Amino acid sequence: MNYRHAFHAGNFADVLKHAGLLSALDRMGAKDKPLCVLDTHAGRGRYELDSAEAARSPEWKDGIARVMAAAREGADLPAAVRRLADAVAALNADGLTVYPGSPLLVADRLRPQDRAVFVERQEGEAAALSALMRGRRGVEVRAEDGWAALLSLVPPPERRGLVLIDPPFEDRREFQTLSRRLAQAVRRWPTGVFLVWYPVKDRDAARAFEAAAADAAQREIAIAELVRDTDPRAAGLASAALLAVNPPWGWAEETAAALAWLAAHLGAGAGGGWRFDHRREDGTWDTRATI
Ligand SMILES: C[S@@+](CC[C@H](N)C(=O)[O-])C[C@H]1O[C@@H](n2cnc3c(N)ncnc32)[C@H](O)[C@@H]1O
Repeated sequence: MNYRHAFHAGNFADVLKHAGLLSALDRMGAKDKPLCVLDTHAGRGRYELDSAEAARSPEWKDGIARVMAAAREGADLPAAVRRLADAVAALNADGLTVYPGSPLLVADRLRPQDRAVFVERQEGEAAALSALMRGRRGVEVRAEDGWAALLSLVPPPERRGLVLIDPPFEDRREFQTLSRRLAQAVRRWPTGVFLVWYPVKDRDAARAFEAAAADAAQREIAIAELVRDTDPRAAGLASAALLAVNPPWGWAEETAAALAWLAAHLGAGAGGGWRFDHRREDGTWDTRATI
């Protein structure tokens, strides 16, 4: 296993994922009850955009850099994008050299009554994350397999919380593993909020996973797909999606608004595209798409 998220930190897919994550945390934090956040594939928590890895494939320049440029120019950012821009600005006093990973975004939002568990299997990444989280209250870093942790940790005693599942997709069978593990976890915790990130390289495989997730979810589910490049010959990752099982109230509307903005501003050439599928609590589907 040699996946290094540093090559991709801050790219369009990270921006979608992290805007959706912050939106969910913000909405869930509106109630005082304690929350438990589990990040099954956590990474190192913080990425230097001037590192050798990021310099070799500066994907962030077409991702978070465009968001921050729009923010600097005073653009009217959708709420979910604004939240991420504010979080990134708080880490960068001057210019843009640091991008937060999901654990840092989560840890900065924990209230005294909340807790988070970050799971990362690669030793080096887990060690960097532990160092970053040292001294933080309510945070636990585990250097172990995220899939096993998922099943052993849900449902948490708090019974309120969010699971982020963000695997590296290096293994061809990752979608099968994901479908199976998500179904098991939702069965154990039918009211948990689950956010799943995945690349859309093979549309049939992505749709099969979405169908399996919709079967597993007993109630609401929403899928936000951001297409950076609509050209089928595009190099690199052209499309990515964020799927939410039991999205918190208001998340779907906020994410759909962010999606349209992100497609217009992070898209290649004449602009990207997007798709938003939402099965509401009453079982009706709302489908909107430009692709
Ligand atoms: C896409 S990155 C995570 C990025 C992070 N969630 C974020 O948003 O900042 C995927 C991470 O999963 C780790 N990983 C791979 N297989 C794993 C497993 N079975 N259990 C836990 N972590 C794993 C990789 O080392 C990598 O750091």
